[in-house]
Amino acid sequence: MRLLDKDFELFVTQQEIESAIARIAQEISRDYGEKCPLFVGVLNGCFRFSGEFFKHYNGACEVSFVKMASYQGLTSTGIVETLLDFSAPVDGRDIVILEDIVDSGRTLQQLVNHFADKNINSFEIATLFYKPAAYTKEYEVAYKGIELPNEFVVGYGLDYNERGRELNDLYILTSR
Ligand code: IMP
Ligand code: MG
Repeated sequence: MRLLDKDFELFVTQQEIESAIARIAQEISRDYGEKCPLFVGVLNGCFRFSGEFFKHYNGACEVSFVKMASYQGLTSTGIVETLLDFSAPVDGRDIVILEDIVDSGRTLQQLVNHFADKNINSFEIATLFYKPAAYTKEYEVAYKGIELPNEFVVGYGLDYNERGRELNDLYILTSR
């Protein structure tokens, strides 16, 4: 499969991805059943994850989104830009972040910092994919879907220069 100038091959099927999402949603339903958490999706990458997640989450909740970006092409720039700020009132809330992927952890750190000085009740992160070999932070991610090697992937919301987000399966880079 080719996107722009790069070749990719199938790595994780939609079926495997969606059963991981169902599992995360069940774990969070169990842990937050009575709490009415505020879910905060991180756009653009989380659009497929969050859509599928709420097919399986049961319990009262609220849903909001922020937009952040740190990647250009194949590599993290190290600078995480907050493109769309989060303005919902969060006092006393139980916040659960929905991320497409945790890579270096810089985006996640930015979110942790954003909520650190707010008067919230609790804060956790749920990520669909994570790359343990790339992760450089101490913060522990509570809910994790599928572990990946430290390689570039696209599909199911993840992009290569904005291409490939619509793909139903996850693909891994085969050439540089
Ligand atoms: P981090 O800040 O380095 O953890 O990177 C997190 C963000 O970079 C994610 O939310 C993605 O948008 C993007 N990202 C990280 N790894 C990949 C990848 O393999 N493919 C596409 N986007 C990625
Ligand atoms: Mg992202």
